[in-house]
Amino acid sequence: MTNPGIDEDRLRTEARAILRENDLGGYTIPTKGLYPFQWNWDSCLVALGLAHVDEDRALTEIETLVAHQWPDGMIPHIVFHADHESYFPGPDVWGTARATPTSGITQPPVLGYALRRLLDGARDRAMVAPRVAALLPKVAAWHRWFASARDPEATGLVAILHPWESGRDNAIDWDDALARVPTDGIGSYVRRDTTHVDAAQRPTKEEYDRYLWLVQRFRRLGWNQAALHDASPFRVVDPGFNAILIRSAEDLAAMARALGAPEIAAEAEGQAGRGRAALDGLWHEGLGQYAAFDRAAGTLVESASIGGLLPLMALEPGHPRADALVGRVAGLRSAVRHPVPSHDPADPRFDRLRYWRGPLWLIANRLVADGLGRHGRSDAAADIARDGLALVARSGFGEYFDPLDGRALGGKRFSWTAAMVLEFLEMA
Ligand code: DGY
Repeated sequence: MTNPGIDEDRLRTEARAILRENDLGGYTIPTKGLYPFQWNWDSCLVALGLAHVDEDRALTEIETLVAHQWPDGMIPHIVFHADHESYFPGPDVWGTARATPTSGITQPPVLGYALRRLLDGARDRAMVAPRVAALLPKVAAWHRWFASARDPEATGLVAILHPWESGRDNAIDWDDALARVPTDGIGSYVRRDTTHVDAAQRPTKEEYDRYLWLVQRFRRLGWNQAALHDASPFRVVDPGFNAILIRSAEDLAAMARALGAPEIAAEAEGQAGRGRAALDGLWHEGLGQYAAFDRAAGTLVESASIGGLLPLMALEPGHPRADALVGRVAGLRSAVRHPVPSHDPADPRFDRLRYWRGPLWLIANRLVADGLGRHGRSDAAADIARDGLALVARSGFGEYFDPLDGRALGGKRFSWTAAMVLEFLEMA
């Protein structure tokens, strides 16, 4: 479809150029300076865009990430392939003692979801299918790790132990739980992110102090993942993170069935089913959407963020909660000029500039659009794709955007924004 007023050829050319310039050979950095290593969910989402350009390279992106899976199944959130001074906290702070250094926490498990998109959309299935098949046991091992390390009481839902794991680092969802994290003994440190990006668009120092305290706590436990859950004062069940895991388990099952791995399929179906059944415990009647559950405090969090809308991508079509979520997305669309804000602007804590406390992110929009399509609202999904293209055509390939005036925020020439533009060009 053509979109009047949008120069699609220019957007496509620019998106491809950004992915090329951030390609360090087998992996793509999110952006120069601010994020000079390989990030887990960035790479999986970047692979969706790369698949439109070069399927072989898209698979390599994922294979490079998965090559750094830990023996216990965890796939870390950062792989530090090469030294770089422009980022803090680097490998010395993490101290995970891996041959190629990595961080010691994880990130939203979009891997299964991304792989299925690559497999289903494959132009060269003879090349893609065996490489995807080889990855399935590794995806299954990661999902198994989530069930044991992050859901030790078998509730069906997993906890994140650090805000960085959510990918939505400074979301309002974490404020109360993070406030209980101490800051004693962290020592002095120098942030690098605020040398690249205006501090008003980044998490605060108070948040960084607590982020670091958690890293130091986990490091002192030798990164023994089996011990971290109960030892962390920050244990939060994020509906967005869990929706992604449930959907990835569903997608893993579908791929395993198609590629002749019935045991993986049965295990993944079981995990997705248990997750879906438990998700209803995160429904917040007052907010009319899902909300995070603070597992350490035993309370549902009063915070209407985009994380609570992502279950759209995991609920079975026809699920009774789906219509309410579709209505919430429509309400947010009409509350701002550029949807979908990462937090409800009606909340006084909304901040149009500050990272995940209000700005819109094209990767979140991509996942919301997927959910809308799943529930029969392809029209609304296409609108989101068109909005995204118009926004980037006007403001450039920013990391995130002000939902009120559309200005680009955070890092520039951002890989996953480029990848989402390539995705939206197929959807709009
Ligand atoms: C950062 O450093 O801002 C990252 O989001 C952590 O992964």
